[in-house]
Amino acid sequence: MKSTTMFRNTDFHDLIDSLIRTIELRDIYTAGHSKRVSEITELICSEMNIAGMEREYIHMAAHLHDIGKMGIADGILLKPERLTDPEYILLQQHPVIGSSVFDKFKELRQMSSIIRHHHERFDGLGYPSGLKGNEIPLGAQIISIADTFDAMTTTRPYRPSMKVEEAAKEIVRNKGKQFNPKLVDIFSKVFKKKKNIIKTIIKNYHANDRRQLYKPFCSIKTNVQKKELVMNIRTK
Ligand SMILES: [Fe+2]
Ligand SMILES: [Fe+2]
Repeated sequence: MKSTTMFRNTDFHDLIDSLIRTIELRDIYTAGHSKRVSEITELICSEMNIAGMEREYIHMAAHLHDIGKMGIADGILLKPERLTDPEYILLQQHPVIGSSVFDKFKELRQMSSIIRHHHERFDGLGYPSGLKGNEIPLGAQIISIADTFDAMTTTRPYRPSMKVEEAAKEIVRNKGKQFNPKLVDIFSKVFKKKKNIIKTIIKNYHANDRRQLYKPFCSIKTNVQKKELVMNIRTK
């Protein structure tokens, strides 16, 4: 889904999209994740009437929020089991690494700040800076909801995916804790009005990305076989 002015330039949008494909080619479990996050973020921004450059920066950041995972070792990024605490601390560097990619682009400072803070929590318990409430850039607060929602509806080797309805309830359960209560209300409104569109976003991209990029991987039926394949790739 393309946004306003700068992003109406299809080449520029596709360039941004290609940048994030590089990380998704490495991380088979997050195929299409950034695209889905950007689509859900767009729905929330529309409901909030966010427009102009602010909308552009949020949209770009939604596509690129996990670009910093390029700097995370395969052994952590592709680990099929739950991460240990030290591994999790290393993974938590990805927002900082991601924003540093754009350090030299003065014009993209706002976007890079959204990337840096997409894992902050409204109650201040997030990372990397422990920002609280509206200290967190608005775009990062919105992306955080879309990111968490998508993550919950994605299958991981150590847990099944949630239904969209369950994931939406989980977002509401974290109102005022992980997420800004006002934004949760807006998300719930969007979910109610556009549930079918959201379901299509989740379903279509999973299907398309699996078909296009991960055909050999997805032809393998069981998680045990997938785990073996990943372990094999990692030890080569
Ligand atoms: Fe992230
Ligand atoms: Fe993400």
